[in-house]
Amino acid sequence: MTSADPVAAAVERRRGDPTYLLQILREAQEALGWIAPETVEAVASRLRIPITRVQSALQFYSFLYDAPRGRYRLLFSDNITDRMLGSLALVEHMLSRLKLKRGEVSPDGLVSVDLTSCTGMCDQGPAMLVNNRAVTRLTARRVDEICDLVRARAPLGEWPADYFRVDDNIRRADALLGGSFEPGKALRAAIERGRQGMLDEMKRSNLRGRGGAGFATGVKWETCRNAPGADHYIVCNADEGEPGTFKDRTLLQTYAGRVFEGMAIAGFVAGAERGFLYLRGEYQFLHAPLEAKLEQMRRARLLGAGICGAPGFDFDVEIHLGAGAYVCGEESALIESLEGKPGRPRIRPPYPVTSGYLGKPTIVDNVETLCEATEVALRGGQAFAGQGTKRSTGTKVLSVSGDCERPGLYEYPFGVRISQVLKDCGARDVAAVQVSGPSGVCLTPDEFDRHIAFEDVPTAGAVMIFGAHRDLFEVARNFAHFFAHESCGFCTPCRVGTALVRDVMDKIAAGRGTRYEINELMRLHELLRRTSHCGLGQTAVNAVRDTWQKFRPAYEKRLQWRDFSPTVDLEAALATARRISGRDDADAHLGAEP
Ligand SMILES: Cc1cc2nc3c(=O)[nH]c(=O)nc-3n(C[C@H](O)[C@H](O)[C@H](O)COP(=O)(O)O)c2cc1C
Ligand code: SF4
Repeated sequence: MTSADPVAAAVERRRGDPTYLLQILREAQEALGWIAPETVEAVASRLRIPITRVQSALQFYSFLYDAPRGRYRLLFSDNITDRMLGSLALVEHMLSRLKLKRGEVSPDGLVSVDLTSCTGMCDQGPAMLVNNRAVTRLTARRVDEICDLVRARAPLGEWPADYFRVDDNIRRADALLGGSFEPGKALRAAIERGRQGMLDEMKRSNLRGRGGAGFATGVKWETCRNAPGADHYIVCNADEGEPGTFKDRTLLQTYAGRVFEGMAIAGFVAGAERGFLYLRGEYQFLHAPLEAKLEQMRRARLLGAGICGAPGFDFDVEIHLGAGAYVCGEESALIESLEGKPGRPRIRPPYPVTSGYLGKPTIVDNVETLCEATEVALRGGQAFAGQGTKRSTGTKVLSVSGDCERPGLYEYPFGVRISQVLKDCGARDVAAVQVSGPSGVCLTPDEFDRHIAFEDVPTAGAVMIFGAHRDLFEVARNFAHFFAHESCGFCTPCRVGTALVRDVMDKIAAGRGTRYEINELMRLHELLRRTSHCGLGQTAVNAVRDTWQKFRPAYEKRLQWRDFSPTVDLEAALATARRISGRDDADAHLGAEP
């Protein structure tokens, strides 16, 4: 093995195990800049897998490149909240300074500039990734400085550290964010309760998953524990790809000990010895600190063999990095990705609890859920259930962004009203709140007395605020582009449907939409909701439907009042023919509508 052969080095580091294919490709790319056909062949031959398997992984993940990119890869976060902070003007500014087009590599191979889906910095945007490292709080001045640094070929290590500063922005803390946490205490409490005792506390707490679906965590753990087979696994879902969500980022940055202890407690209850933390590629800046935390915990005997001196309690965690695919947050897609494959959702049942990683019983839990498990271990199920509402116990961490004075994290007992959140974050003259990201629900002022709770407005955490001056059609159009980009292509309704929705929204934006397009959008909404294979497709048209129902003038002002208008602008398409034939008389034009 030599450092001159990064493929050999990466494969050897992973002991030639093809389940590490994604990690190996990432590491090879880090050294080589992109994945050339000969790299594909080398990886396939060293892992003894078909070339097509490597190619399909390469084509699936947007942070893996099968063609050269600039030595500086600049990717602007394209969430609607970044746009509201002026990101698109900054992109144009950078492109003109660097004399580049979007997506193009400069002739000297130095730099490329493009857009990427939300990078999870909505509270401190506009944001970008530079060679996978997050840069926050962009301004025109900062963009100028970055252009100068790129032209001077300055290594990232020499860039001002402040560019890479990621603040926690905790604005309201409750039991989880505000409580004191002594390392090892939760684990010892769980061990004292015993495997069954800890499980009983989990069920008593009625803790429900914080990743979106709200499944009862105790029931999930019990089903996994009872599933036959020797190896069981714990997976922490740190993919956090839903635009507008960034609470897991802070939990991983400042509460990592809690996250890993939560995983170890799950391992203790379910009888698992191995855990994985699947970290979204956009959060690569957290990778090294998380590895350091794991080392520290191993030294303190909070991970590894004989945790806290408890005989037979062995558990350790590995970190896997994602590579820019929102769908990998879906638990079965995440498991596929962990196995080194393209992250396409599996057909379920069987569910991961009985057949997950490598076909073995696997618990997949959200970062916040695992943190809450430490609370249950420390305080007991009943005390935990004392906060929140009957069907939504405990607290919820909300990621608040958009038109407000104080974006950031707000932790409340479940049941808090939307109006309270808006008051606390300094939001005024609000037209709409998008709860739970593009796949969630768009609420208008007459609904602001509703509650954040599974029985009313459920959420994985995103609260995006839109002031009265915002154009809700453009919000929905941004979301439509997001889903079309992120559809994994596995099932036809979502693959074709999300692209159609995007194109129809673009047509309406261009002023060529009619009632026909609106009917098409509503038909597609129903079709995708009923027939898509996973939650991505099922919810992809929610925001379009909500905004059409609640912000109709934003659409109507763009519509032509006729039955149908073709997608192609026929009048413009005839311009070439007119030029060639030298004709510009009335008959050379389509003419006004009768
Ligand atoms: C398209 C899609 C993306 C998802 N993204 C995430 C995610 O980033 N983080 C997460 O915890 N759950 C995500 N989920 C939900 C997971 O499938 C799963 O329900 C969750 O990880 C279970 O953990 P919990 O019980 O702790 O909520 C996503 C689901 C779908 C359909
Ligand atoms: S609904 Fe979309 S994202 Fe989900 S499996 Fe089908 S194509 Fe993939």
